[in-house]
Amino acid sequence: MHLPAKVTIVEVGPRDGLQNEQQTIPLASKLELIDDLAAAGMRVIEAGSFVNPKWVPQMADSEEVFAGIQRRDGVRYTCLTPNLRGFERALAAGVDEVAVFGAASEAFSQKNINCGIDDSLARFGDVMAAAKAAAIPVRGYVSCVLGCPYEGDIDPAKVSHVTGKLLDMGCYEVSLGDTIGTGTAGSMASLLQVLLQDHAADKLAVHCHDTYGQALSNILVALQHGIATVDASVAGLGGCPYAKGASGNVATEDVVYMLQGMGIDTGLDLDGLIAAGNRISGVLARASASRVALARSAA
Ligand code: HMG
Ligand code: MG
Repeated sequence: MHLPAKVTIVEVGPRDGLQNEQQTIPLASKLELIDDLAAAGMRVIEAGSFVNPKWVPQMADSEEVFAGIQRRDGVRYTCLTPNLRGFERALAAGVDEVAVFGAASEAFSQKNINCGIDDSLARFGDVMAAAKAAAIPVRGYVSCVLGCPYEGDIDPAKVSHVTGKLLDMGCYEVSLGDTIGTGTAGSMASLLQVLLQDHAADKLAVHCHDTYGQALSNILVALQHGIATVDASVAGLGGCPYAKGASGNVATEDVVYMLQGMGIDTGLDLDGLIAAGNRISGVLARASASRVALARSAA
């Protein structure tokens, strides 16, 4: 079995996790979380999102978040930018990197960013041009790669097509989002067999929400296919009891524990991550969704 010797974790908790919270999270707690993660060795942290604050109120303070970050050497503080307006806000806030986010499902694209796939790619083209001029790296996301809440099954060829468009326009990597966590080891393997015919494994990352409890096995399948970048959210942040079907990303602690057990280097301090996850869970007044954190904290 061929496995990567080293895996890069992209921490998305401060963005993907906190964007779903109903309760207001104090700016100081967001900054504490970001710094706790950096202190635990995290080198890529998605810290905010420059979207319409009416759509995602929890990310309305992203300017303040970036202004307040205690920057650590070697850490990339990144964000989402859906359009040129978002990119200009991000650039002014001093981000290190941005991400555009598209979908393999027309219906999801409409619901999420208020335009179809082709229109979204045109908007991303504007972001790419501005980012190139400012020498800011751009990551791409494709949502609904293993299922859509509106369209159901998604054809892997469609995922590959959108992935190719994002790479062609200059994204350095595309993260494959199992947005609703319905994928399985079987459907992930089928998807990657198609995708890897068209794209190199080192251009791909996986972004697995854990709604159906399949994320770790899906990540293992991705590793076995040579993918070495994995998105995760400390304490499994994300999801909300009031938003039907929403659930957090795989917990960073659980991914790191699995990788350590496989002898794969992440450069991360598991105890530090558990402490970071427990602290933000305390702010949110609920138990961590990381099984590893629960087990270690009970011990
Ligand atoms: P729109 O309504 O089509 O935009 O929204 P518009 O250009 O027609 O403008 C309408 C209004 O929005 C105007 O304001 C603009 O100024 C404002 P008004 O005149 O009505 O006062 N506006 C903005 N304001 C601030 N920042 C901006 C911005 N752009 C327009 N950047 C838009 C299009 C994309 C902005 C909107 O649909 C939006 O904000 N959507 C939110 C999408 C989002 O954040 N979703 C969650 C993140 S994606 C995700 O979680 C998936 C992922 O994790 C991967 C996975 O799990 O699969 C990445
Ligand atoms: Mg997500």
